[in-house]
Amino acid sequence: MTTERSLVLVKPDGHARGLTGEVLRRIEAKGYTLVALEVRVPEVEMLHRHYAEHEGKPFFEPLVEFMSSGPVTAAVIEGERCIEGFRALAGATDPTAAAPGSIRGDLGRDWGEKVQKNIVHGSDSPESAAREIDIWFPGL
Ligand code: PPS
Repeated sequence: MTTERSLVLVKPDGHARGLTGEVLRRIEAKGYTLVALEVRVPEVEMLHRHYAEHEGKPFFEPLVEFMSSGPVTAAVIEGERCIEGFRALAGATDPTAAAPGSIRGDLGRDWGEKVQKNIVHGSDSPESAAREIDIWFPGL
């Protein structure tokens, strides 16, 4: 087994709805460890680096604008296969389609707006996790 680290973000909609504690509770209840935690309003430049792989997609600019619109909680979590494990906890990207039991399935839905508010982000691979952790917590 390999102990992994993943970057988790509670997005501005999750923060505004007071769901940060609930997301962290689910992470800890699953058995993952919190290694780093910070609340900040991310700068646009930093978000461009974070979402670099999506540059050019139609949702890129709305996503960056949304993510810089308010406080975000960034966390580094640690545990066996926690990258895949957190994405299972988060549920499908589209909160309307996300399975009940998941963060997005239990707590998310469409809000009739263009930007997709889906509460959390989690790294999707060991390479992404290393890159994203270096952006949000350089030197960790
Ligand atoms: S892709 O193209 O399949 O890789 O995209 P996906 O993994 O589904 O989503 C990548 C991130 O973009 C967000 N997203 C959106 N944001 C705003 N508006 C729209 N329409 C939209 N569609 C996708 C999605 O929530 C993912 O964000 P993160 O932070 O990575 O979870």
